[in-house]
Amino acid sequence: MLLSAARIASLFSTKKPPRYSRPDNNEKADVLSWTPPRRIAQTFLGLLAFALLVLILLPLRSRFSPFHGTDIDQQHRNASKHLVIASFTAQNVSWLSAIPSEWGIMRYLMDDPNPPPPGLPVPINQGREAMAYLTYMIDHYDDLPDYMVFVHGHERSWHQMEPLWMKIRALNLTALDEENYISLRCGVQMGCEKIPYIDTRHPNWSGEDHMCEFWRTIVPHEECPRYVSYKCCAQHAVTRQAVRKRSKEDWMRIREPIMHDIHDNAGFGGPGATSWLGGMYYEKFWHILLGAGPEYCPSVERCRQVHFSNAIICDGDTDATTFEGDAWMDVRCVSAFDGLDQDAPAGPAIERFHGELLSTYARVRSEAGQRHKMQQEAYARQKAQGV
Ligand SMILES: *[C@@H]1O[C@H](CO)[C@@H](O)[C@H](O)[C@H]1NC(C)=O
Ligand SMILES: *[C@@H]1O[C@H](CO)[C@@H](O)[C@H](O)[C@H]1NC(C)=O
Ligand SMILES: *[C@@H]1O[C@H](CO)[C@@H](O)[C@H](O)[C@H]1NC(C)=O
Ligand SMILES: *[C@@H]1O[C@H](CO)[C@@H](O)[C@H](O)[C@H]1NC(C)=O
Repeated sequence: MLLSAARIASLFSTKKPPRYSRPDNNEKADVLSWTPPRRIAQTFLGLLAFALLVLILLPLRSRFSPFHGTDIDQQHRNASKHLVIASFTAQNVSWLSAIPSEWGIMRYLMDDPNPPPPGLPVPINQGREAMAYLTYMIDHYDDLPDYMVFVHGHERSWHQMEPLWMKIRALNLTALDEENYISLRCGVQMGCEKIPYIDTRHPNWSGEDHMCEFWRTIVPHEECPRYVSYKCCAQHAVTRQAVRKRSKEDWMRIREPIMHDIHDNAGFGGPGATSWLGGMYYEKFWHILLGAGPEYCPSVERCRQVHFSNAIICDGDTDATTFEGDAWMDVRCVSAFDGLDQDAPAGPAIERFHGELLSTYARVRSEAGQRHKMQQEAYARQKAQGV
């Protein structure tokens, strides 16, 4: 891992390797060519120490690489998994080809009531990604896989620095077994401020009206959380247990508010509330609905190192997330990906993988401005469509 990290770093480095130059006069050459016996002994001892160090460190190397041993990996490989995607017909989902084949793809097409298979329809295009996620949970409640990841259709976005396929490949399923809910986002901006929803007189009240009204509509038997903090942007991984903590009827009640055209419905959110707003409400509650408690904000370090197996570097990097002109990412963001290729054993696969990675970043960087523009347009369209 260290070696390849250095290799990657060297590819980005602008420093030239040091050159060995000949001494430019004979006097110096003479001085250099004279090597006292003590120096030879020192060099020999140095080499010996180095060889010993290598011998000691080599067996340890595997302990520091993201996946050690194949047992856990194999067990998780056999587990059933679904990738649930809320997407649009026009969205480019070619990134799906980088998702390991063991993941079943459940792609919902928000804007097509009769999508050609294997595309899946939603009952009504309301509530943004919430409609796709909830429809999946309800329709598959009785045969849920061991693990599910709920995502948008974009490969990358302002709120998700690494490409989705990278996040999914790096997802630590052992950690998911323990925690049952893991946000796909490591960054803490936009959500991890502790927001008081219940007390509108609180000086830090978020100003988003009717959150508790909405909460009581979807989970009438549970108190509205006093404070909420969460990892932004409604993409997460969960276990079957997390979904089964609530009954199918519960999930149907949770989906109910967006089953109608709520564009001009004043039921919650006040006059002019849109399904956009409906989706925004769900976004702030997913972690609670899925059993992670009202305050879900694991540190950036924990997220990167444990949840995503040490393979994530960009996400949570506040320097990297600053906009540079029209571009929203920085090519300094490189992931060390040793051992994470689940489709093939280590070796050439890793070489290939790093190649993929570098070309991905190169491409992303050159297209960043263009993509950002397209994203803004798509965002405006989605907002107009009410998703
Ligand atoms: C996983 O599946 C393979 C092939 O079906 C099987 O040989 C192996 O024993 C399974 N491993 C586990 C840990 O279940
Ligand atoms: C879709 O995205 C892939 C890679 O992300 C790119 O190579 C391809 O050209 C895109 N296709 C279209 C039609 O934009
Ligand atoms: C409101 O938020 C600010 C900034 O995060 C914080 O310093 C302050 O303590 C908060 N006030 C209360 C009453 O919680
Ligand atoms: C995966 O998660 C487990 C449980 O939290 C942790 O012990 C392990 O170190 C993690 N693996 C990686 C590669 O980070």
